[in-house]
Amino acid sequence: MTRIDPERHSDAAPVTAEAQEPQASPEVLKVSNLAKYYPVRTGLLSRGRLVAAEEVTFSIAKGETLALVGESGSGKSTVAKCVLRLEEPSAGEVTLNGSPVTGIPQTELRHRRAAMQMVFQDPLDSLNPRMRVWTLVAEPLWLHGIVPKRNVKEKVAELFELVGLNRDHLDRYPHQLSGGQQQRVGIARALATQPALAVLDEPTSALDVSIQAQLINLLRDLQQRLQLSYLFITHDLALVTILSKRVAVLYLGHIMELGPTEVVLSRPFNPYTRALISATPVDNPWEKRERITLTGEPTSPVDPPVGCRLAPRCPYVLPKCRAQPIPLVDVMPGHAVRCIRFQEEHVNGQWDPEPTVGTESAPLEEIPHAAEP
Ligand SMILES: Nc1ncnc2c1ncn2[C@@H]1O[C@H](COP(=O)(O)OP(=O)(O)OP(=O)(O)O)[C@@H](O)[C@H]1O
Ligand SMILES: [Mg+2]
Repeated sequence: MTRIDPERHSDAAPVTAEAQEPQASPEVLKVSNLAKYYPVRTGLLSRGRLVAAEEVTFSIAKGETLALVGESGSGKSTVAKCVLRLEEPSAGEVTLNGSPVTGIPQTELRHRRAAMQMVFQDPLDSLNPRMRVWTLVAEPLWLHGIVPKRNVKEKVAELFELVGLNRDHLDRYPHQLSGGQQQRVGIARALATQPALAVLDEPTSALDVSIQAQLINLLRDLQQRLQLSYLFITHDLALVTILSKRVAVLYLGHIMELGPTEVVLSRPFNPYTRALISATPVDNPWEKRERITLTGEPTSPVDPPVGCRLAPRCPYVLPKCRAQPIPLVDVMPGHAVRCIRFQEEHVNGQWDPEPTVGTESAPLEEIPHAAEP
């Protein structure tokens, strides 16, 4: 990731974005240039490469949440799984508390996994139906030797209390619990190893709205009490505003924009972020000024063209958007955007206000200038 100087953006020497990000607390997770490619058949005899994630770079500080949003198939779960090496990344580096997660043997990885856990979307799918729930939570305690064997059941009861379950639930099977209770078991299981990082892959999307709210409160409370770092994957921008101060927007495996939630959701710079917010009923001042509707289908992730992934659908596309790889560039400290027009023109005040296709739009000049304080 590179950065542009808001004062002298066009000829500024690129420096790393990470160096510019305000870091209140030490970094827990650092992901650099992560990529995941899947070989796929494209014809009877031909094979191609599905790009599920590429050039994914971000970090998460202690006690911080980074939300990862994007439409279905944008690569959110792939990034999550590659971070934990549940899927082997094709390229890139991941470190947790400064120690490598990538490039280490499985035996070492097993120990490192104690410090990073995942909560899955569908609690019932992620819990073995033949095990009583207390054994599901006890399993990681045994596996990683967190407490002496004789103390395991007591520790499980403690974890149940932490996530708002009671001792009556201990001896039940997953199907004998409600969806919300199942997800609490999933969270207790994830917390058993006292992780530094929890990857939450749409942890509440399978639940009723009222249960969702309870779980989000629980996650927030646990984060404060345990100083947990979260990578929080969601479709729901309203949840992003509640749980996360920073958000990364993914489209066809690329981060299109990454920055403070209140800035990205109220003054989005990348056209994809604008469209995503336009399509979402979140109350934000920006939405009243401009709506963007993307036309056409997303580009295929199989052997995608070299330029911007959004180019075939972008109302502001120019030939140069298709001609070259577009980097993710810091437009302000801690706010990075992947859009060459934004980087080269909007920051200069030269953005063409007339979209070429498919918007119901007001002029883009209404959107505050990136270089403005
Ligand atoms: N094992 C696999 N083999 C081939 N392609 C895969 C595999 N897993 C995922 N993909 C592809 O990678 C891309 C990203 O998928 P991913 O599941 O990460 O998306 P997502 O953003 O999590 O979507 P959703 O919001 O629907 O959960 C998709 O095009 C998907 O079809
Ligand atoms: Mg997913």
